[in-house]
Amino acid sequence: MANLLCLLSSVLLDCPESISQTKYKGSYSWPQTSPAAIVEVSCRKNPLQSAWRRCAVNIDLEQTFWSKPNMTECKLLEELPSNILDLHNVMITEENAQDVVQHILYLLPDATLDMEELEVIGNKISDIVKFLDLSETLAEAILTILDYILLQEMEDQNIRKITNRILKTTEEIGYKLAHTERNTSIITTSFALLVMRPDPSVFEGVAFGVTSYDQGRDIKISVQENPFENALASVRLPKSLKTFLGDNQADPETYSKIQFNFFGTTSLFVDDSLQKERLNTYVVSASVENSLIQNLNEPVNVTLQHINKNTGNAAVHCVFWDFLKNDGLGGWNTTGCETEYTDMNYTICFCNHLTHFGVLLDLSRAEIDATNDRVLTLISYAGCGASSLFLAITLVTYLALEKLRRDNPAKILLNLCAALLMLNVIFLVNPWLSSYNLPALCIAVAALLHYFLLAAFTWMCMESVHLYLALVKVFNVYIPKYILKCCIAGWGIPAIVTIIVLIINKDFYGNGSQSENSPFSNLLEWVRYDSYIYTKTFKPQIPFPSFVESKFKWNKLNFQFRYPPWDFSG
Ligand SMILES: *[C@@H]1O[C@H](CO)[C@@H](O)[C@H](O)[C@H]1NC(C)=O
Ligand SMILES: *[C@@H]1O[C@H](CO)[C@@H](O)[C@H](O)[C@H]1NC(C)=O
Ligand SMILES: *[C@@H]1O[C@H](CO)[C@@H](O)[C@H](O)[C@H]1NC(C)=O
Ligand SMILES: *[C@@H]1O[C@H](CO)[C@@H](O)[C@H](O)[C@H]1NC(C)=O
Ligand SMILES: *[C@@H]1O[C@H](CO)[C@@H](O)[C@H](O)[C@H]1NC(C)=O
Repeated sequence: MANLLCLLSSVLLDCPESISQTKYKGSYSWPQTSPAAIVEVSCRKNPLQSAWRRCAVNIDLEQTFWSKPNMTECKLLEELPSNILDLHNVMITEENAQDVVQHILYLLPDATLDMEELEVIGNKISDIVKFLDLSETLAEAILTILDYILLQEMEDQNIRKITNRILKTTEEIGYKLAHTERNTSIITTSFALLVMRPDPSVFEGVAFGVTSYDQGRDIKISVQENPFENALASVRLPKSLKTFLGDNQADPETYSKIQFNFFGTTSLFVDDSLQKERLNTYVVSASVENSLIQNLNEPVNVTLQHINKNTGNAAVHCVFWDFLKNDGLGGWNTTGCETEYTDMNYTICFCNHLTHFGVLLDLSRAEIDATNDRVLTLISYAGCGASSLFLAITLVTYLALEKLRRDNPAKILLNLCAALLMLNVIFLVNPWLSSYNLPALCIAVAALLHYFLLAAFTWMCMESVHLYLALVKVFNVYIPKYILKCCIAGWGIPAIVTIIVLIINKDFYGNGSQSENSPFSNLLEWVRYDSYIYTKTFKPQIPFPSFVESKFKWNKLNFQFRYPPWDFSG
């Protein structure tokens, strides 16, 4: 090459003296320069630094020409305005773009970031992204500005108005970073972006994954062909996407680019129309340049780690960011995304299109925070304790006074009380027993809880059967060994159900493999869930006064219906 240039330089002409005029950095005059040489001149504003320019050679045409001057080290002749609003009047050109971006970064700590300022910053960034070639430095500086804005405790409404714009700008930045065959990536505090241009002829699908050692900070990104095992977020594009990537025979320069974005923040994605749901993952997106990709046959595999562990088994929904929702402000939409798998740590979604993906957690049940949970638990225990006490008193009273428990209704009631009392007692000792962390013990407790819950139901059923017999069939029925039969049904049916469950799959009562957190959270999860249902739906009926009342009414009913003559006439 050097020899060739030597050879050529004998026939090539020098670059002639030239003057370049710039709006913000002044005019520079470049002396006559020999082919392939670089000439430096001092900057106007900061003479210790210099601008440089190359006398470039076009070998094919055997001609020389001046390259574009590189004036990155030269400062602007005029200082940029000292507040963000005044930047409004500064026109963005290639020479000042980097300076304006650096200047915005410099001004940000003193900025109020109200809607007006955001508007100005947004406009400047849009201009840069729209009209100029982006270097990686410039792109990174722009994303750092966005980072800064997001990390401020901002009023949600303001962020909300610029969400769509930020998302679109980020994508545009990625595609503008026009690098030929390299995979280009930019990582800032909460954004990560990767652009690649795969060869369609060998495309077998591609996976993008984000790992982080500090909950969304200190991000690392990587690309591979297979799905990721452990990632904060990952997207795997299917092989069938090949058709969108361009013609195999064509010039590699025309292959479409694929871009992945990661947003390590949830504050950007505010959707006021959500009521009981909250975004519980970071957001990851994928797109193909200049293509709208929808209705894929092979799904896109999106795996997102939960920000807060879903220990309450709350419902999750896979969603995408719908730019049109909420009158164009954007919002979450579930169409085309399905929940393939979920556990407390992460969710896998299958989606049939490419956009920004996230996972919503349904808070209608998981909403209870730690304090309220304590209070509710306390109330549950107090209530259970009280009802246990009165149930015990009732039982003792009935057992002590032979006269009271002579008739059948009383005997049935006695059994119901016993079932409820056992249910209460087991519920009360549950946390204490589960604190031993013995899987077998936990399964036993869970099975017993299940058993007595079912027994309470069957005995309630016995009550109603008895009521039916007493009221409707009145004197016509005589059933030998009535109470014995009731007992067999009332205590037997629940036992059969529980034993069947134990035989089929004892893990149904908790598999005993998880042991972190409080004794409550893991092992007895479903039991706890059941207990909540139980306490919520049945507890109000258990306390003594209403129980007495129903017994009282029941007697009155018997009395009323047995004796008035009109009830027998039919
Ligand atoms: C301009 O020069 C600087 C070093 O002085 C270099 O880092 C930068 O990449 C150059 N820019 C272009 C567009 O060549
Ligand atoms: C870009 O990423 C793809 C991922 O499959 C990889 O195969 C390729 O080697 C990467 N290219 C470069 C230049 O790193
Ligand atoms: C989806 O991704 C997850 C992890 O990222 C992986 O375990 C699973 O096998 C993938 N599913 C398919 C069908 O590729
Ligand atoms: C969700 O997206 C689908 C398809 O883009 C659209 O038809 C539907 O109206 C959207 N739903 C909401 C609630 O905006
Ligand atoms: C969730 O992650 C924790 C560690 O953070 C692990 O111990 C536990 O087994 C995981 N749970 C599931 C269901 O994968």
